[in-house]
Amino acid sequence: MKKTSVLLGLTFTFLFCGVHPATITFTNNCPYTVWPATLTGDNRPQLSSTGFQLATKETQSLNIPAPFTGRFWGRTHCSNESSSGRFTCATGDCGSGQVSCNGAGGNPPISLIEFTLAENNGKDFYDISLVDGFNVPVSVSPQGGSGDNCITASCAGDVNSVCPTELAVTGSDGGTVIACKSACEEFHQPEYCCTENFRIPETCKPTTYSMIFKNQCPQAYSYAYDDLTSTFSCSGGANYAITFCP
Ligand SMILES: *[C@@H]1O[C@H](CO)[C@@H](O)[C@H](O)[C@H]1NC(C)=O
Repeated sequence: MKKTSVLLGLTFTFLFCGVHPATITFTNNCPYTVWPATLTGDNRPQLSSTGFQLATKETQSLNIPAPFTGRFWGRTHCSNESSSGRFTCATGDCGSGQVSCNGAGGNPPISLIEFTLAENNGKDFYDISLVDGFNVPVSVSPQGGSGDNCITASCAGDVNSVCPTELAVTGSDGGTVIACKSACEEFHQPEYCCTENFRIPETCKPTTYSMIFKNQCPQAYSYAYDDLTSTFSCSGGANYAITFCP
């Protein structure tokens, strides 16, 4: 009898009190190494890892205590500088000089994965944002969870291969495009940044530039008010798989 009530109590706690953290599993399907980075928002403590190396075909999981608001991104073309030993990346660098980002954000252009995880198995929200540009293809797949919009969000297209010259970031070889800037970042114009006269959804519309990103990645944000086709949600305590080069 006593044993049963303890068990019931534990089950209750497990199901309803938010002790069950979400697991996010990162997999790298790119033919090159990616260094994922994590940034917790809302002044909450950073996760157990704020950056790690993920070689081709490697997988690594992180436990995320809910509630959580934060973002993930992949860094590419990283190395230790020979003179200083500082760890730096040609895309997504967070400026820490280490593999861990320690609460620093990524330098655009980056493909961002944004998450809000609810406690008590409530409704999670996630999206892929190219509002700050694109560096690496990525997808987010819920495992478990429920809801009409509880589906894989994928940005599998390679924006780098169609990036206009004026937005392209090239690698140390000078030719290969390794990332693609957003028009807002490059031109700082209100119509691209959804500011000033363009600060509301009714006036900030897709542009020729944002459409380049949208055509490659229809499920990702291509500009700030691209909500309709770009937000996803799961209820019921889903776990998530993030794949680079899905
Ligand atoms: C940078 O140096 C660290 C420490 O020696 C090493 O573990 C890591 O693999 C190096 N990273 C790269 C990209 O060379």
